[in-house]
Amino acid sequence: MKETIRTAVLGLGRLGYWHAENLVSKVKGAQLVSVVDPLEGRAEQVARELGVGSWSQNPNDIFEDDSIDAVVIVTPTSTHADMISRAARHGKHIFVEKPLTHTLDEADDVIKVIGETNVSLQVGFMRRFDPAYAEAKKRIAAGDIGTPIYFKGVSRDGNVPPEEFIKHSGGIFLDIAIHDYDIARYLMGQEIASVTSTGNILMNSNKFMEKYNDVDQAMTYFTFDSGAAGDIETMRIAPYAYDIRGEVVGTEGSIQIGSMRYHDVKVLTSKGSTHDLISDFPTRFKDAYLLEMVHFIDSLRKGTKPICTEIDGKAALEIASAATKSFITGETVELNNKLLTR
Ligand SMILES: NC(=O)c1ccc[n+]([C@@H]2O[C@H](COP(=O)([O-])OP(=O)(O)OC[C@H]3O[C@@H](n4cnc5c(N)ncnc54)[C@H](O)[C@@H]3O)[C@@H](O)[C@H]2O)c1
Repeated sequence: MKETIRTAVLGLGRLGYWHAENLVSKVKGAQLVSVVDPLEGRAEQVARELGVGSWSQNPNDIFEDDSIDAVVIVTPTSTHADMISRAARHGKHIFVEKPLTHTLDEADDVIKVIGETNVSLQVGFMRRFDPAYAEAKKRIAAGDIGTPIYFKGVSRDGNVPPEEFIKHSGGIFLDIAIHDYDIARYLMGQEIASVTSTGNILMNSNKFMEKYNDVDQAMTYFTFDSGAAGDIETMRIAPYAYDIRGEVVGTEGSIQIGSMRYHDVKVLTSKGSTHDLISDFPTRFKDAYLLEMVHFIDSLRKGTKPICTEIDGKAALEIASAATKSFITGETVELNNKLLTR
């Protein structure tokens, strides 16, 4: 077993900072040796804040440093394929944020490179590590609800990212619904066979999304190979909270996942009863972001395969691409998914 995995974080935006913070002190066996961001001053600022010894504006400094074992790629989605290929060719193990790549062709390319270079890759589908989703997976595997026959996902976010992000995000199906596509495959233990989707721009302030063929609210209905089915509601405009829920209905029961509460406190007054709500993804998935990084470093130290690989990354991407196509054409899209479900 390797004692220490020398790691660098590439991309220090909304999420990269949190991964860096976790790697600095909370992940056993990880040593965060450098942080990188091309934005003037950003890497130095984060390095100083977190006590990281080295920083750079250029990812090449990391790729060419033989003392670095692994990279955590948290750069914009459109850069993932290039980053993965360069990291793999330099023998670095890879954690890459979702989605694996921007396009299916790119996914095929990186799967080929990963195979040739024999490095390990984990995709950042952190819901698999969220304690509630992980418990649901265990209960389903134990047969508590019989055979799973329906998946329901709700992902509502109220924080519309800036236009520059939307422009490069790949659209709502690739950027947000992909989390539900992955967790649906994972919890149901089945592959998705057909996808029908629709969407709308519900807020006038989001009309700019039309330019990118994107929407702020979408619905995906799908069937599985087994004949099971599911639906996923995705929204960028929830005016009240960051609201993530899931449900798997089985032949003998149902498992409901997720609660909108932040603190487990209920305030009772003569006006009624209230509790607070979760406002954003770093709060809702704080534990999951840490646990997925613990899993990544642990699997590298032990030489085991992570539970969420480039194959899972491609499978979710295929579903997202089918959903995007269905949204554009108005037709149901059949998937010929030969990937193995884990
Ligand atoms: N798992 C999740 O819940 C989750 C949440 C948010 C974002 N993400 C994913 O994380 C990735 C980044 O998203 P974000 O919201 O943090 O974006 P962001 O725009 O906030 O940050 C991206 C950062 O990467 C930097 N960057 C750009 N090109 C770079 C390069 N070549 N090398 C190094 N750094 C570079 C930018 O300067 C910026 O600081 C995206 O792929 C997104 O889909 C995942």
